[in-house]
Amino acid sequence: MRIDAITLFPQMFDAVTRFGITGRAHERGLWALACWNPRDFATDAYRSVDDRPYGGGPGLVMLAQPLAAAIAAARAAGPAGRPVIALSPQGRPLADARVRELAGLSGAILVAGRYEAIDQRLLDRHVDEEVAVGDFVVSGGELPAMMLIDAVVRQLPGAMNDARSPACDSFADGLLDCPHYTRPEVFEETPVPEVLLSGHHANIARWRRQQSLRATLLRRPDLIGRARAEGLLDAEDQRFLAGLLAEMEKKP
Ligand SMILES: C[S@@+](CC[C@H](N)C(=O)[O-])C[C@H]1O[C@@H](n2cnc3c(N)ncnc32)[C@H](O)[C@@H]1O
Repeated sequence: MRIDAITLFPQMFDAVTRFGITGRAHERGLWALACWNPRDFATDAYRSVDDRPYGGGPGLVMLAQPLAAAIAAARAAGPAGRPVIALSPQGRPLADARVRELAGLSGAILVAGRYEAIDQRLLDRHVDEEVAVGDFVVSGGELPAMMLIDAVVRQLPGAMNDARSPACDSFADGLLDCPHYTRPEVFEETPVPEVLLSGHHANIARWRRQQSLRATLLRRPDLIGRARAEGLLDAEDQRFLAGLLAEMEKKP
């Protein structure tokens, strides 16, 4: 996989190329990153990448031309057909399904904005998709781009030490993950749930499934609705959820 990032701060991306799972995967050659600084594509003597907004108002707007030239250079340098994705609070919220789709592609070209905005004509003419990492605004697209890269790279075969890990994470089966415990058996007078010490694999699997269902129902009931609609819940899941709901109704 090859990712190209259009960014005024290429060094920030050391965070994903040098550390943790994404760093190891990068070292092993599972993915490559090339950064393109729009400043290198500016045409004036000051290497300008921004200017005041037409119509007035606060802040500066990123010029379309250096960004368009940087995107063109990134396109030419990597495999064809990769989507150009601008990180933007106005984009589609990033979710597990899109992350998995992206992990199946040969890569992407990510555009990290800065300042007040990117000239709309650049977005309209050169960007395929806008992606948001939440309903809040950060100062630049670099951290959101790195979140996307991290989420995608950990899905690549061989990126995680245990290939089963991504399949056990929240959202993989439509539900939130179950709680996890490690040593000691008792921490601040709280013991580990007994079933986890039983060595009974079927019971452990059932307990984990039920804990996932419980956490999802309590924290993200919207996901339960979706999992039901997508046929991800079997009869035993449905019975367990019905019991939980009945219990919750009884409590004030
Ligand atoms: C200060 S923000 C601009 C926000 C813009 N004025 C708005 O309200 O839509 C600068 C850059 O940060 C990035 N950014 C900020 N919040 C984001 C979010 N929630 N998701 C993805 N990117 C974001 C985008 O690349 C954006 O161009």
